[in-house]
Amino acid sequence: MTIDLRPVPTLAGVADVAATYVRQVVAEQPDLSVIFPTGRTPIGLYQRLVAAHGAGDFDLSRATVFMLDEYLNLPTYPVGSFHHFLIEHLGPVIDNSHTTWHTISPSNDPAWSTAYDALIDAAGGIDLAIVGIGQNGHIGFNEPGAHPSWRSHVVTLEASTLDVNFPETSPDQRPTTALTMGMADLIAARRVLLLASGANKAAVLRTLLEGIDDPHIPATFLRDHPNLTVIADGAALASV
Ligand code: GLP
Repeated sequence: MTIDLRPVPTLAGVADVAATYVRQVVAEQPDLSVIFPTGRTPIGLYQRLVAAHGAGDFDLSRATVFMLDEYLNLPTYPVGSFHHFLIEHLGPVIDNSHTTWHTISPSNDPAWSTAYDALIDAAGGIDLAIVGIGQNGHIGFNEPGAHPSWRSHVVTLEASTLDVNFPETSPDQRPTTALTMGMADLIAARRVLLLASGANKAAVLRTLLEGIDDPHIPATFLRDHPNLTVIADGAALASV
């Protein structure tokens, strides 16, 4: 299946095109199940969705929202958590009395993954998975080596991921593990919207878009998805 690649010059362009895409999908299916990721890349999208929500033009009150991932042993929790990030950047849209929002709380309870998978199943799976991409090709926190059949699970984070996500944080203030939705549920999503920005994504985007075979890289599991849209800026597409 062909990837719907939408190149844009800048990160602001990623936000504009992604906001149009998301608003259209939600207008067509207001009761959808949707994943919102964290990261620098989706912040502009979230600004646009919050503005549209405030203007009465974007509404997730009938939707079911899922978190994609969360740090597990984050010393500064809740500061720096993905839950905190989503409230900060998307709060009015998802953290309200109408929208069903399934958060991921850091928990060592092994029953966590079964319970989260059951929530995904109860929603009928994911209609729209919005995801970013890690420099090492992770999706959510499905780090290299993750299997496409895996569902929600605990992850030991790669040193390179921690260096990217916590560039100025001393090792004793960094988490080492995380909880993530698995690739199986992302592969099964009816639509996947992947956002990429910046020169540090160029190598992995080349691997994804040019069909380079690397079963070690979770992003490549999305390559044959029947409805995958990639919105990427010039720096991320520099090697393609
Ligand atoms: C984190 C998240 C990913 C996200 C990635 C990229 O590692 N777990 O879901 O895709 O960051 O973030 P950024 O958009 O800042 O490059």
